[in-house]
Amino acid sequence: MSPQDRASAAMPAGGPRPAGRGPSNGQSSGPCDGPCDAAPLVRLVGIDKRFDRGGTQALRGLDLSIGAGEFVSLLGPSGCGKSTALRLLAGLERPTAGEVRWADAAARPASAAPDEPFEDDLAFVFQEPTLMPWASVADNVSLPLRIRHLPRAAIRLRVEEALATVGLSGFASALPRELSGGMRMRVSIARAMVTRPRLLLMDEPFAALDEITRLKLNDDLLALWRRRRFTVVFVTHSVYESVYLSQRIVTMAARPGRIVAEQRIDGPSVRDEAWRTSEAYGEACRQASAGLHAAMAAGGAHVG
Ligand SMILES: Nc1ncnc2c1ncn2[C@@H]1O[C@H](COP(=O)(O)OP(=O)(O)OP(=O)(O)O)[C@@H](O)[C@H]1O
Ligand SMILES: [Mg+2]
Repeated sequence: MSPQDRASAAMPAGGPRPAGRGPSNGQSSGPCDGPCDAAPLVRLVGIDKRFDRGGTQALRGLDLSIGAGEFVSLLGPSGCGKSTALRLLAGLERPTAGEVRWADAAARPASAAPDEPFEDDLAFVFQEPTLMPWASVADNVSLPLRIRHLPRAAIRLRVEEALATVGLSGFASALPRELSGGMRMRVSIARAMVTRPRLLLMDEPFAALDEITRLKLNDDLLALWRRRRFTVVFVTHSVYESVYLSQRIVTMAARPGRIVAEQRIDGPSVRDEAWRTSEAYGEACRQASAGLHAAMAAGGAHVG
């Protein structure tokens, strides 16, 4: 079976069709037109996840395809299994039933920047930056490369590039305690990007930041995504953030964790204040908010 055959075997013909997908407004919503029709990068198939400790059925019957180059948000109330789904994608948890199917490397898209091909399958950014407090910014960012035993000169170049990418050139020798919360999160993103991942998993990365810093990091993340064409799965509790950033919102309900709605966001290719203040954005927020409220009601109705 060719890589392409295997990739299409991982997903129904034509790719996933989100339930909430509406008519397109004709604008591109990101680096790949029609992201839901893009070749699949990874798919969660019939996933059940039960934790022995506490006996929690964290996920039941979860089916989710992530298209290569897509920006997908997972939105849902606390405890609906968003982090568990990310951890399954990252291979940090094993499903009780079902499987995580990856497209073959050959079926994945090339990077937009030919001199910066993807190297790693994935990187994870957590809510807390989780930096080593005793180590400089450069030492924190270079850690994944040092673990891989890359040559020192290559590491130095890659760290410089990653810090420039997140706007932290000039802070290589700073310690984490000398940085603001937003800057620490930028270091965490640089540490993820330094490995040139195909898939960036982000678990409420900006939740602890003030509004202004959060908006700025939203814009910087989008600019990075447009430039580097990686795939993002972004967990958030914020309707507004998910609509601002994503091409598709997957809404989950709890007890057991499951997908209850999907919404395609047909925003402009460059998202900025004009998008945030547009009627289309407001309407998408209303729809996502209704989906979230329905998910919360559904979760409450399934206690047990
Ligand atoms: N390691 C674990 N052991 C036992 N139960 C767990 C474990 N991890 C998660 N759970 C349970 O699984 C369910 C889903 O947890 P998860 O952390 O995925 O939710 P979440 O949607 O990310 O919530 P939040 O928005 O609060 O971060 C919860 O009931 C949680 O208590
Ligand atoms: Mg979580």
